[in-house]
Amino acid sequence: MRAKDIREKAGVDPITMLTAYDAKDATVVDEAGIDVVLVGDSMGNLRLGHDSTIPVTLDEMLSATSAVSRVVENALVVADMPFLTFGVDEARSVENCGRMLKEADADAVKLECGEHTVDLTRRLAQLGIPVMAHLGLTPQGENETGLFRQGTDEESARRIVEQAEAHEAAGAFSLVLEHIPANLGRIVTERLDIPTIGIGAGPDCDGQVLVVDEVVGLTEGTAPFGKAFGDVRGEMQRAVADYKEAVEAGEFPADEHSHVEEDLDELY
Ligand code: KIV
Ligand code: NA
Repeated sequence: MRAKDIREKAGVDPITMLTAYDAKDATVVDEAGIDVVLVGDSMGNLRLGHDSTIPVTLDEMLSATSAVSRVVENALVVADMPFLTFGVDEARSVENCGRMLKEADADAVKLECGEHTVDLTRRLAQLGIPVMAHLGLTPQGENETGLFRQGTDEESARRIVEQAEAHEAAGAFSLVLEHIPANLGRIVTERLDIPTIGIGAGPDCDGQVLVVDEVVGLTEGTAPFGKAFGDVRGEMQRAVADYKEAVEAGEFPADEHSHVEEDLDELY
């Protein structure tokens, strides 16, 4: 998949997108035929033990994106740019985004957007770095905005529409809309030509994205707009408990898990 293929699905076929953070989950997601694999900075909360995305580093995202890119064969691989690695100054932003493509083999980058990313989006697109924009709830701004639903009043809804149009005009190939009213998700989707991909943005977006940990049931509970389609956490807990019990009971390893070299019986 290329960014262009995703852009062309807008209004034609629903776009499916999930996060992945390593080669193992990326393989499962890609083999299922998901269109877009996002190496999200949600890795900070979900895999690195942080309580926000703020501490995630460029090196951590480069490493995770490399692992995902090595195994993905069909999906578009999008690398999330972590807090303060973009939008501070243009040269450094371009260099950091470029590293995701040059070193980690990503196909595109995702930026949590605002007024400060319009010109950057234009520059990146000109340089051949496809940009997925992200508006609505942008968790890197949590110290400014909190982690609340956005676009709930007229002023903030208009701001999201204006920013969406500005980033489309600047050359973004798609737009993630997070945790906004469903009717605002529909309005933005109708006003844009590029695809909208919603997470907690209602059913009328061109696509949907969730974090893979919630979808497979690896987290304890989900966001209000998330859904567990499996119980991987329960299955891991069962397997680990059974292993512990088997070792403690002397049942593991059994004969079939061991190898005896007869000659060694006479060693001492
Ligand atoms: O980091 C992430 O997982 C994301 C998605 C929720 C869109 O940004
Ligand atoms: Na993110």
